[in-house]
Amino acid sequence: MNSGEIVSRLRELGDAFKADLKSRESEMDIRALQAAYLGGKGEVTALRKMLGKIPAEERRTVGQALNDVKDRIEKAATSAIDILKEGASREYLERHVDLTLPGRVPTVGSLHPLSIVMYDIVDIFVSMGFDVVSGPEVETDYYNFGALNFPDDHPARDMQDTFFIKEGRTLLRTHTSPVQVRTMQSRSLPIKVVAPGVVYRRDDDPTHSPMFLQIEGLLVDEGVTFAHLKGVLSAFIHQIFGRDVKLRFRPSFFPFTEPSAEVDIECIACRGRGCRLCSQSGWIEILGSGMIDPAVLEESSIDPERYTGFAFGLGVDRIAMLRYEGITSIKLFYENDPRFLGCFRR
Ligand code: PHE
Repeated sequence: MNSGEIVSRLRELGDAFKADLKSRESEMDIRALQAAYLGGKGEVTALRKMLGKIPAEERRTVGQALNDVKDRIEKAATSAIDILKEGASREYLERHVDLTLPGRVPTVGSLHPLSIVMYDIVDIFVSMGFDVVSGPEVETDYYNFGALNFPDDHPARDMQDTFFIKEGRTLLRTHTSPVQVRTMQSRSLPIKVVAPGVVYRRDDDPTHSPMFLQIEGLLVDEGVTFAHLKGVLSAFIHQIFGRDVKLRFRPSFFPFTEPSAEVDIECIACRGRGCRLCSQSGWIEILGSGMIDPAVLEESSIDPERYTGFAFGLGVDRIAMLRYEGITSIKLFYENDPRFLGCFRR
């Protein structure tokens, strides 16, 4: 064979390999075919052995043709295998994976139920023209008790089981009422604010948590009467619980208000008939309120002869438990179990 014949035979082998490939259906078959063409016993190798016998100046062309055919065969084998694999994986997917299923949506966070209720309550007061203010959770005895007319050693202090940091000096605020004093001492009159925030008491049972949320309300101006207090709180309760819910003002006592009243609403669960939620009374207490005691106004250098005001403090957790019927323990709000929190996604 001369070099021209070798070159054209090599080209034929390349074409023949491509034709043979068509009947091969597995990677193993393809690799075997490739070995038959390129391996030690294959024709390409036999042709390569003839390289020594051809004139030196023609070796280059033949060598090039040898490399080309080897390249063509390898590339054709690899691409045939790729096509087989792709077909196999598509077939596998079609058999094992339901491509019509909807995708997995990443979970998105949501507001805590207490935040939802707190924002709703604050929004109602903001719509009535109240500003939103805040105060520190670590308070002094003065703001939490003294300035609010709790005399030293007065039993009223026992009403609020206090976490002291330094006995008689600093403590975790037991209510948001200290913000009343801070606001009256820092803002000019008239004052119309709400102060949402966390408070702490040594109390721990299904309806009491050592940490809970309150919203304080304070309005001071000339000519403010108990009728204003009733009007604002009734409007608030009707907005949050509905027009037809019954409420009552029940005489009570707080050292910093006179007169004082607690507000109860008709039990949402039993509509006033009496159940476990309302301890069979038919009523549920949701806030404390009253006309600001003149002594408290004087403590903040406000003339009680000229100005009057009212204040209220409402329990956000209690309202949230009523709003989301079926929450029987306040603890659920503070355990942060995602299965519970996920129920309040809006
Ligand atoms: N601070 C009182 C409490 O926590 C509630 C209250 C606030 C009462 C304002 C009257 C006026 O029980």
